Amino acid sequence: MDNQKKIPLILDGDPGHDDAIAWVIAASDPRFEIKAITTVAGNQTLAKLTRNAGKIAALLDLDIPVAEGREVPLIADLMTGGDYHGETGLDGPVLPEPKYPPSELSAVEMMAKVLRESEEPVIIAATGPQTNVATLLLTHPELKHKIRLISTMGGGLRNGNWTSAAEFNLLNDPEAAYIEYHSGVPVQMCGLDVTEQAIIYPEEWEKIRALHNPVAETVAGWLDFFQIKLKDLGWEGVTLHDPCAVLSLVHPEIFEMHDYYVEIVLDGEYTRGLTMADYKGTTGNKPNCTAVTGIDREKFVECLIEACSRFGGKETV
Ligand code: BDR
Ligand code: CA
Repeated sequence: MDNQKKIPLILDGDPGHDDAIAWVIAASDPRFEIKAITTVAGNQTLAKLTRNAGKIAALLDLDIPVAEGREVPLIADLMTGGDYHGETGLDGPVLPEPKYPPSELSAVEMMAKVLRESEEPVIIAATGPQTNVATLLLTHPELKHKIRLISTMGGGLRNGNWTSAAEFNLLNDPEAAYIEYHSGVPVQMCGLDVTEQAIIYPEEWEKIRALHNPVAETVAGWLDFFQIKLKDLGWEGVTLHDPCAVLSLVHPEIFEMHDYYVEIVLDGEYTRGLTMADYKGTTGNKPNCTAVTGIDREKFVECLIEACSRFGGKETV
């Protein structure tokens, strides 16, 4: 493939099992050119997540900078995911040590550098709280035009998961999401509407394990770990939230999408972090986001297996 046609991509997240699997998909796809990984506090405290990011980059053999982001949300207190992703934030298989220390640039300065230097507009796949992205938009408004799209995992038009109203990434830093959705930069929102349909079942990830390459075996190990956590919450299989934010970029045909005006609710004892879609068009506001609302689950699983097969081994689908 012609290098120039690749999509420059920044992976911003809080890895996290599903962030990590999103990054596997990104690294596997020749249409992407990953420019940097940036970390943000969320699933665990920042230092742990930055370490995880370095290890994932080593596993995927990515020679790109890993830059550490904000330790706390813009205004809210930090709320981690507790032991949801384990003590390290990425418990499960043993990973290789990071090949390089984190960059001396902060996440936001790294993002700004990538945007400044890129000839093509860049996509930011933001799969944690939107703290880094909002800080970038506030501190470097002159670079907004270099962002082709912010593809986020966050929110949910019909329900929350951390409270009845709010999804974890949104509740963590609603002010950041508010800044992003009001920035004028194109936003694609993979909320719980789609991500809770993006389920993989144990017999399906056995096909991933059977590929017998180190990345595939690690992905299967992450899913083994995550399934135990999710079973306690009443889920069969594993919901793969963050991978939707990457896969929807290269396989839009397996997703359902609608343009809506979405407001981020910042107040209310029970409504903070709610993503409110103007389904009826009564606000008079133009759509500010493309909401991804549905998925062909079986095709999604096939894409994930195929992504893992690109790291070697025999595809068994
Ligand atoms: C989101 O919260 C985190 O636990 C996951 O990594 C995902 O980004 C789902 O609500
Ligand atoms: Ca995440």
